[in-house]
Amino acid sequence: MDIGIDKIGFYTPNVYVDMEKLAEVRGVDPAKYTIGIGQEKMAVAPLHHDSVSLAVNAALSILDDEDKEKIDFVLFGSESGVDHSKSGAVWVHNLTGIQKNARCVELKHACYGATAGIKLAMGHIALNPDKKVLVLGADIAKYGLNSGGEPTQGAGAVAMVISSNPRILSLDNDSASMTKDISDFWRPLYSDFPIVDGKFSNEAYLGLLKDVWGTYKEQTDRELSDFEAMCFHLPYTKMGKKAIQAMTEGADESETKRLMNSYHDSIYYNKQVGNIYTGSLYLSLLSLLEQGPELKEGARLGLYSYGSGAVGEFFSGVLKSDYKKHLHKESHESVLDDRRELSIEEYESILGRALPKDGTDIEIDNEQVNIGKAYLEAVKGDIRKY
Ligand code: CAA
Repeated sequence: MDIGIDKIGFYTPNVYVDMEKLAEVRGVDPAKYTIGIGQEKMAVAPLHHDSVSLAVNAALSILDDEDKEKIDFVLFGSESGVDHSKSGAVWVHNLTGIQKNARCVELKHACYGATAGIKLAMGHIALNPDKKVLVLGADIAKYGLNSGGEPTQGAGAVAMVISSNPRILSLDNDSASMTKDISDFWRPLYSDFPIVDGKFSNEAYLGLLKDVWGTYKEQTDRELSDFEAMCFHLPYTKMGKKAIQAMTEGADESETKRLMNSYHDSIYYNKQVGNIYTGSLYLSLLSLLEQGPELKEGARLGLYSYGSGAVGEFFSGVLKSDYKKHLHKESHESVLDDRRELSIEEYESILGRALPKDGTDIEIDNEQVNIGKAYLEAVKGDIRKY
């Protein structure tokens, strides 16, 4: 059965920090952030946005009435969920107006949650070909001021409709995956910020990539030349370059060159947003599809998902004819272009703000323009009002 991505949308908050200006204030050569790490702008989430509101805005940008009738499963991938018990998918279901007989679940494994959602969605559609599944990857990546991870923060969400006979990308059931119990990046329940061993996390990402790519080749008999382009989880865009280098080790130089061409299209959005954890791989896919030239029908794309802790998975999809007609390039470009640049003082003040941890009620000041269709208005009696 032909199952895959029928629609894909994206949302990021309306404010960002310029990476060169952040570098100057931190006393770092700006080229370290823009070239060494590969980031130009970093999305910042004010208090009125959390992973739920970001996901709702991403979903609203793609769903129509037919989707809302046919979706019977909402899978919310996140590692910055807003409740230890209630699933973020429930708010998304309500705020997007999806029919009442749907199920709603939140999935967590670091940056891998949305990929887990896609794999579950594929199985669900195989059993229920006339239904659709809404898969979300929504996160706010926050490492804290002056931390090693500070230039690799970001905020945003990707929403995808998974269905039979998809109009954008057919997904093959060809995954090679692996799990390894390591401590490269994690966030204890008490902490707002993750604990990260930066260098080890880079090594783990690349180590699992090499492993699953080796298994994938054995399983499928496919080679680099079978792929038109590769998309990677991008904690920062330089990571994609390292990933291509790891995959093309010992290969013909022309293969590296070919993959590097599409790499530039696949990082365009991520460069301007930063890390969005669960959504990052799919933001990169969206960037390739919207910002790159039209690729041939049947062209195969490789996708590598990595979630610290750690799970790695390599899988692939095949492009549909006229896929460009089903994208929302202009509206995604305006989400990025209509943002306001924050001064470093404003950014620091936003990062320093948090919802009360003792259950005190709070009304959130939303006297701002362009904050999306969904935003957090207040928390009253420990209940969030969007
Ligand atoms: N001009 C150009 N390049 C420069 C430069 C300059 N002036 N100064 C430094 N650089 C280059 C360095 O050579 C280096 O390049 P390579 O990685 O190719 O060697 C790059 O800039 C980064 O420099 P450092 O390694 O010195 O940077 P750092 O010590 O500040 O750490 C980091 C970078 C590890 C990514 C850190 O920001 C971090 O810990 N980030 C959070 C963790 C993370 O993103 N890990 C990624 C893998 S884990 C994962 O993928 C899951 C996830 O989403 C978190």
